[in-house]
Amino acid sequence: MKDSGKISSFLKTGEVYFPPEDIVKNLRINEEVYEEGKRIEEFWGKISEELVWFRKWDRVLEWNPPYSKWFVNGKLNASYNCLDRHLDARGNKTALIWEGEPGDRVTYTYGELYREVCRFSNVLKDLGIKKGDRITLYLPMIPQLPVAMLACARIGAIHSVVFAGFSPRALRERINDAESRILITADGGFRRGRIIPLKENADEALEDAPSIEHVIVVERTGKRWNRYERDLTWDEVIEKQDTECEAEIMDSEDELFILYTSGTTGKPKGVVHRTGGYMVGVHITAKWIFDLRDDDIYWCTADIGWITGHSYIVYGPLSNGATVVMYEGAPDHPARDRFWEIIERYGVTVFYTAPTAIRSFMKWGDEWVKKHDLSILRILGTVGEPINPRAWEWYHRVVGGERCPIMDTWWQTETGMILISPLPFTPLKPGSATKPFPGIEADVLDEDGNPCKPGEGGYLVIKTPWPAMLKTLFRDDERYIKTYWERFPGVYLTGDAAKKDEDGYFWILGRSDDVINVSGHRIGTMEVESALVSHPAVAEAAVVGKAHEIKGQAIVSFIILKEGFDPDENLKELLKAHVRAEIGGIAVPDEIYFVSSLPKTRSGKIMRRILRAIESGKEIGDTSTLEDEKSVKEILGKK
Ligand code: PRX
Repeated sequence: MKDSGKISSFLKTGEVYFPPEDIVKNLRINEEVYEEGKRIEEFWGKISEELVWFRKWDRVLEWNPPYSKWFVNGKLNASYNCLDRHLDARGNKTALIWEGEPGDRVTYTYGELYREVCRFSNVLKDLGIKKGDRITLYLPMIPQLPVAMLACARIGAIHSVVFAGFSPRALRERINDAESRILITADGGFRRGRIIPLKENADEALEDAPSIEHVIVVERTGKRWNRYERDLTWDEVIEKQDTECEAEIMDSEDELFILYTSGTTGKPKGVVHRTGGYMVGVHITAKWIFDLRDDDIYWCTADIGWITGHSYIVYGPLSNGATVVMYEGAPDHPARDRFWEIIERYGVTVFYTAPTAIRSFMKWGDEWVKKHDLSILRILGTVGEPINPRAWEWYHRVVGGERCPIMDTWWQTETGMILISPLPFTPLKPGSATKPFPGIEADVLDEDGNPCKPGEGGYLVIKTPWPAMLKTLFRDDERYIKTYWERFPGVYLTGDAAKKDEDGYFWILGRSDDVINVSGHRIGTMEVESALVSHPAVAEAAVVGKAHEIKGQAIVSFIILKEGFDPDENLKELLKAHVRAEIGGIAVPDEIYFVSSLPKTRSGKIMRRILRAIESGKEIGDTSTLEDEKSVKEILGKK
């Protein structure tokens, strides 16, 4: 790797890393944005002008907690803002550089992407899809995924992307909840050299999904697949379509997409995002946090099946006219330098990944990174979970050559856009997501709703509305209110614990609810428990998270078996396979303990707090509400 030179390196004073002067002075923004952000309506109103509106809004915000309306009566189209508006100036600029895991490559200019999206929009229209209809996408990381999303947005259909790692059952649940009319999938996708059988999964999901009228199948792998009457192939339906399709005029409040995420109950939540506010939020955060320029090659390694991919592979970067890299597969296939090879090959300048990936890279060793010239990188990002300072420092030094600011971005599926993050001029503290984005007011509250003192841990909340905030939960206003707005009225409850330091920097401590964060993926403990108890051998199950070196958290489960089942290794494997089939690989417990009782309160609630304490080797604390100490002794005995 080239020596980055002393002048442009970060200066470290105490725990703070100060960005080099040449980065700071070349930015288009400075500290003033925080002042401007204090006048919320004026601030977001001015930013909204960066998008193309068919009709300008009458008012920036109408706030009737917990409901907001953003850019009231404004008309726009998300697909138009990602494509059409770039055609004059950037029609021949590369929009998408795609690489498949086996090494196949395709690029699209903005013009080409526009035409492809228009063609697929016409396909959907031919199938009778209208504004407001839902469409489920269950696809690997292939170009057809953003094409299909932008096509939905273009005609006003609401997409619901389901991560390709989810099981048939999880897919079915999401299709049925959204009542989708069309499912778009592929015959398969490549992951670590293997083919994920998406069409087979889809067929299984559709055994009981009556709303689906058609399945559109992208033929990705060349393998045979079962074709049913409802099935169409992507190539055959798109072939003769016209390359023009007028963008539907959408109201700012019209839904853009639904994305399901885990919560504290077994049923996933359908987070609803709307057109105007979401687009304004992701546009400006992508632009300022990653300092996106016309000559940047931007790569976010997330899967589009999660919010990070929606906001920072598709809508944010494309609305900025950026060149986006998209990669299908695993970071260690065929070798552990696949990511660094991609960065070098395409000249990636902005790289956005997750702490769990960084910890793996660190473990694999510096040599893999050093085999490649990464000196063109200028900004790094992380998202998904707290990054431990050691991993931060490694990322900064080995990948960033000590010259790249690291944007530790905190946000959620519900927030739609990054809410807490440095800007490239912000002095950095490893492990802290630093400060709320301009226009955002975050705080840490104690049990009574009072602001915590510096250094004191509490509930992370957002105190004022922001444009990309979720509109509601799909067909479940009640749960929307209950989950986010009831604990502290008028204030958005994030579900995270955090602390603020003397400088007002935020440090995220993890979830404060029954949600585990495994490799940056949110998994509800109840979801895993429900999956476990649906197995005939299981009488009761309790699931908690436990610190894990690479994944951040691992899933640990305690199980009471029904009479007549043997607590052996074979059954453990069967139970793991069962969870994989019920939810997907990401939810499979790392450890299973068979026990004869679980710590419960006298009212019969499982005391996960005790299980968590046992797992992390901490003091068990107050057990006065515990029904019976026997369970705790038994579990301790198994450790
Ligand atoms: O606990 C926080 C963690 O991920 C949760 C949101 O998960 P999800 O909706 O799946 O979205 C992930 C990508 C935006 C949060 O409640 N989280 C996300 N980013 C960070 C983080 N924790 C610490 N630091 C972060 N930068």
